[in-house]
Amino acid sequence: MHQDLQIDIGRLAARLSELGAIGSTGDGGCARLALTDEDRAGRDLVVTWMADLGLDISIDEIGNVVATRPGLSEGPPVMCGSHIDTVATGGIYDGNLGVLAGLEVIETLSRAGVTTRRPLAVAFFTDEEGARFSPDMLGSLVYCGGLGVEEARDIVASDGARLGDELARIGYVGSAPCPGLAPYAYVELHIEQGPVLEAHGEDIGAVTGVQGISWQELTLVGQSNHAGTTPMSYRHDPGLVAAEIAVQARRLAVGMGADQVATVGRLELVPNLVNVVAAKASMTVDLRNTDEELLAEAEAKLAEEIDEICRREGVSWSTRRLARFAPVEFDPTVVSLVEAKALGLGLSVRRLASGAGHDAQMLARMCPAGMIFVPSVGGISHNPKEFTDTGHLEAGANVLLQVLLDLADTDVLGSQVEAVGVEG
Ligand code: GLV
Ligand code: MN
Ligand code: MN
Repeated sequence: MHQDLQIDIGRLAARLSELGAIGSTGDGGCARLALTDEDRAGRDLVVTWMADLGLDISIDEIGNVVATRPGLSEGPPVMCGSHIDTVATGGIYDGNLGVLAGLEVIETLSRAGVTTRRPLAVAFFTDEEGARFSPDMLGSLVYCGGLGVEEARDIVASDGARLGDELARIGYVGSAPCPGLAPYAYVELHIEQGPVLEAHGEDIGAVTGVQGISWQELTLVGQSNHAGTTPMSYRHDPGLVAAEIAVQARRLAVGMGADQVATVGRLELVPNLVNVVAAKASMTVDLRNTDEELLAEAEAKLAEEIDEICRREGVSWSTRRLARFAPVEFDPTVVSLVEAKALGLGLSVRRLASGAGHDAQMLARMCPAGMIFVPSVGGISHNPKEFTDTGHLEAGANVLLQVLLDLADTDVLGSQVEAVGVEG
């Protein structure tokens, strides 16, 4: 069944670099934070490509865009996609690959005159990165009914902007309702963003699930004072506390073992001056683990330690939850299908869990879902140096093509599809 069909890597690579040029940071990287002018320009370009392919484009109330190609029969589509927003220091592959590979699969099928039994859809979801508006995977979370539209629109960005206002400003408030329609299945091609596939010399990752994510923002308030006149024993220094928390977070993760990771990615001191003991520190802590119980244990241990450090220094603290998602396991049939299709194409494949968050983990709430990973050179991502070899981009997109064809044309998922409902 169309096993000899192949995507055109030249076309896919050209689209990746054309989209990557929007918001280019001049060093190979890309800055298209969600709902900025750059995001709008990127969206407009991808929507133009969707229209050029004759797809039926729908925009929903939170700005998710779904482009559908009819099948021979009606019914929910087999969906692929990802996101096109980036972190401020992003590369050109994270998210963009999944969306543009989806368009490339559609173009390949159209040129070959192939119509699938079930419809196919390519989606890009709003604000996957969460780098401007938290939580991450926000658009797909709303799509799946895990967060209300109004609540999401009221979220305020790190730069003070309100999500709903920014969505309207860039012209992406659509009329399709959220939660959206459950697809028949969802498959996302993505770069691994970590070192595992490259280290083992494998071409393709059959992703088994996504680890749990805990994001919090800590506010530490002390006593601002003169750096020269204040004896050390008189100080209530939130800068020192922030530093100790960062050290403790690292110790905690290392102490708990390989599956626990901890990151202090943002730290701001007020007033941030050379000769002033800080009045306030604001910092984020990102904790992740594939095991929900261990993740909860890490959160509790860190909270105890923060309390102890603050008490010692006479600094008060408060915390605001930015994101909290339990680990997700992907549909075993979809995982096996990815593996089988990669092997069928003569590619080496490895099962692995994702360290990064993805829209697929939200879609897994409403339909059988899975992911295909391709190696990231040096395991580097969220960095302008993010890179994946062209051969691996091509391999990943060809696996996506074959997986989508099987999901759209066969009953490989059996009767389980009807049994899956939407979770709140
Ligand atoms: C978001 O994509 C994350 O994993 O931080
Ligand atoms: Mn991504
Ligand atoms: Mn990312």
